[in-house]
Amino acid sequence: MTDRHVPLIERFRDRLPFAEGDPLVSLQEGSTPLLRAPILSEMLGATVRLKLEGANPTGSFKDRGMTCAVSAAVREGAKAVVCASTGNTAASAAAYAARAGITCAVIVPEGKIAQGKMAQTLVHGARVISLAGNFDQALTLVRELTANHPIVLVNSVNEFRIEGQKTAALEIHEDLGGELEALCIPVGNAGNITSYWRGFREMGAAPRLFGFQAEGAAPLVEGRVIEHPETVASAIRIGNPVRWEDAMAAATDSRGSIRSVSDEEILAAFRLLASREGMFCEPASAASVAGLLKYGTDGAEQIVCVLTGRGLKDPETAIAHNDGMIIQCAAETGPIEEAVLGDP
Ligand code: F0G
Repeated sequence: MTDRHVPLIERFRDRLPFAEGDPLVSLQEGSTPLLRAPILSEMLGATVRLKLEGANPTGSFKDRGMTCAVSAAVREGAKAVVCASTGNTAASAAAYAARAGITCAVIVPEGKIAQGKMAQTLVHGARVISLAGNFDQALTLVRELTANHPIVLVNSVNEFRIEGQKTAALEIHEDLGGELEALCIPVGNAGNITSYWRGFREMGAAPRLFGFQAEGAAPLVEGRVIEHPETVASAIRIGNPVRWEDAMAAATDSRGSIRSVSDEEILAAFRLLASREGMFCEPASAASVAGLLKYGTDGAEQIVCVLTGRGLKDPETAIAHNDGMIIQCAAETGPIEEAVLGDP
């Protein structure tokens, strides 16, 4: 039996570019749950499972890639890492850099990253550069910077990130014994869909990959760079994905597609996941489920939706959009009875 209680690089060493004895920076990432989703399964007439990537140490799938990128950076003798980020890459880079004892700087679009992610990045001691610009501009600037300075770039242009993230596909393949027919996944900078396709191909598997972008940030759907991307799902507010060709190849080669979902559809899926399935993910993650609900199963019976990050990352959006209620109440018996037992 596979030992899941080991660092990701150790668990998948035969499939990753790391040798025995290489330095290893790990927070025991990966081996995340694959949870049955009874409500979605019923709604869609298929078996739907959720890959809970929010169960990673910093609360998103980025940790799979970051353990590899930072371990490789340490192996090369690097003293600093840097990234552009909509928040999760920043939080993950900051945590792994802290663990490695190296410095970390992150460039984030000013006012556009969720509170939880900002809190994580700061508490790990990273230098946060709040850019008067969007993610795409941040990535361009950071690529220039790393071309001229000895700092390792840990965005998904870094091959180690793709290598690490492909392990989620290996886990799903292992858990389902190769039965998977379709995978639904949110798409932003397009590194993750690229990683999954690489992972499945290495296992000789070919599920159909359905990628979903937010309508206001859907360059791959529209076939053009979006200068001013906008969406409530701040994690995927990206107008010029760096893995553009790879993502299109993944969709085409797997007989899948990349399509868009509106913010309303994302938020509806977000609320449904939380209030009916008991699963609180961040809005970008809900794009996978929104897409499945919008476009249907296309005949697939075994489906996995990737929930890329956990809900606590973005408390503002959760508080603004939910099916719960707050009832103001005086500290007396009568009002308490009415508040708890009365009609909503
Ligand atoms: N879901 C979440 C929660 C993300 O944070 C991201 C990307 C994606 C989906 C999309 O993945 O970029 O590989 O297509 N977040 C990056 C960041 C851009 O900076 O944290 P992708």
